[in-house]
Amino acid sequence: MKVIAVINQKGGVGKTTTVANLGSALADRGVRVCLVDLDPQAHLTLHYGIEPGAGASMYDVLTGNRPLLETAVSGLENNVTVVPSEVDLAAAEVELVTTVGREQILRDHLRVGNPPLPFDLVLIDCPPSLGLLTLNALAAADEVLIPLQAQFLALQGLGKLLETVSLVQRRINPPLRVGGVVLCMYESNTKLSGEVVADVTQFLDASRGTNVPWADAKLFESVIRRNIKLAECPSHGKTIFRYEPNSRGAEDYAALADEFIQTLNIAQGGKTTEGTASMESDEAATSAERVESTEVAAVAHDEKIAEPPPPIEPAPPIEPAPPAESIETPPAPPTEPTLVEHTPVVDAPTDPAPPIDAPPTDDTPPQETSHDVEKAE
Ligand SMILES: Nc1ncnc2c1ncn2[C@@H]1O[C@H](COP(=O)(O)OP(=O)(O)OP(=O)(O)O)[C@@H](O)[C@H]1O
Ligand SMILES: [Mg+2]
Repeated sequence: MKVIAVINQKGGVGKTTTVANLGSALADRGVRVCLVDLDPQAHLTLHYGIEPGAGASMYDVLTGNRPLLETAVSGLENNVTVVPSEVDLAAAEVELVTTVGREQILRDHLRVGNPPLPFDLVLIDCPPSLGLLTLNALAAADEVLIPLQAQFLALQGLGKLLETVSLVQRRINPPLRVGGVVLCMYESNTKLSGEVVADVTQFLDASRGTNVPWADAKLFESVIRRNIKLAECPSHGKTIFRYEPNSRGAEDYAALADEFIQTLNIAQGGKTTEGTASMESDEAATSAERVESTEVAAVAHDEKIAEPPPPIEPAPPIEPAPPAESIETPPAPPTEPTLVEHTPVVDAPTDPAPPIDAPPTDDTPPQETSHDVEKAE
């Protein structure tokens, strides 16, 4: 069984759309697919027509130790199995704050168990943040798949994301690799798209032969073009292959599935060709790498990443180089269990302006203070 975390801390880049439709296309090709919704927004859950909160969810798996299979909804289109999410999942980050090994809970559910889960492939839809939920996905995954929009800011976010993957790989999940990058909402007629493809290609090529987790990552040739049918189908609770099978969106995800399946090492409809060796190494890693380091905890708690001593191998700069950013020890995690809003996006900052919560200085004009803004509200 291969576990792939679909991650990008930038919001709205196509993570959920890719998990839903790539998963569906792979299931059509005989792969036994389990889709895990690890985002409190529950968009993947809705995409498959499941009402969030109607039954057990990932919240129960992570906080109540409920078996994953008991929570899973199977028999969906294409024989896909979905482990649903609900908004309460956002509270898990807070509730688990004192739990030892909290970043390894999903890994244990996926990896430890006899008999093993009856899937060839698990795709995890991550929230747009690098908090505890995403950390659980990274700790459980063999590989990371990164949906990327061909934008200048997306490249900056990629550098930050790879830095995090590198940190997790070093601290808690040594086998973790970046499998690939898939371009979503692609617009081939723009100059920027071509430039981004060239930049990502150059960046990945420069990593070949090194020991970074993305040394073997591929930029998938199949790109997902912008297609309105892909935006419409979630509200119908259907994947693109049931909603509009003749659309460009269906065509693109089918092509991606054909390309992707070759990277899986999966004998379709049956056992992985990786055999027991990978399970053995998984279990070894589970026990040996159960590290409760402050650095990892920092990743779990906050959008800022603590610089570990020794420093991680920094992600090679992506052109143009992002502005220097302050990497600092994050503050203590929030204690209010009412923090059910979505975890904040953790993009590499692009604005050199001071933090919005910086206290006003003496020479700040009174009308610009946050205090006055609050009063005005
Ligand atoms: N190729 C596409 N063409 C048109 N619309 C798309 C395409 N891919 C995704 N969308 C739409 O863009 C929006 C964002 O996509 P999606 O939800 O997959 O992103 P996401 O990365 O999962 O977002 P979030 O970070 O909020 O979880 C959705 O409304 C989706 O339907
Ligand atoms: Mg999403």
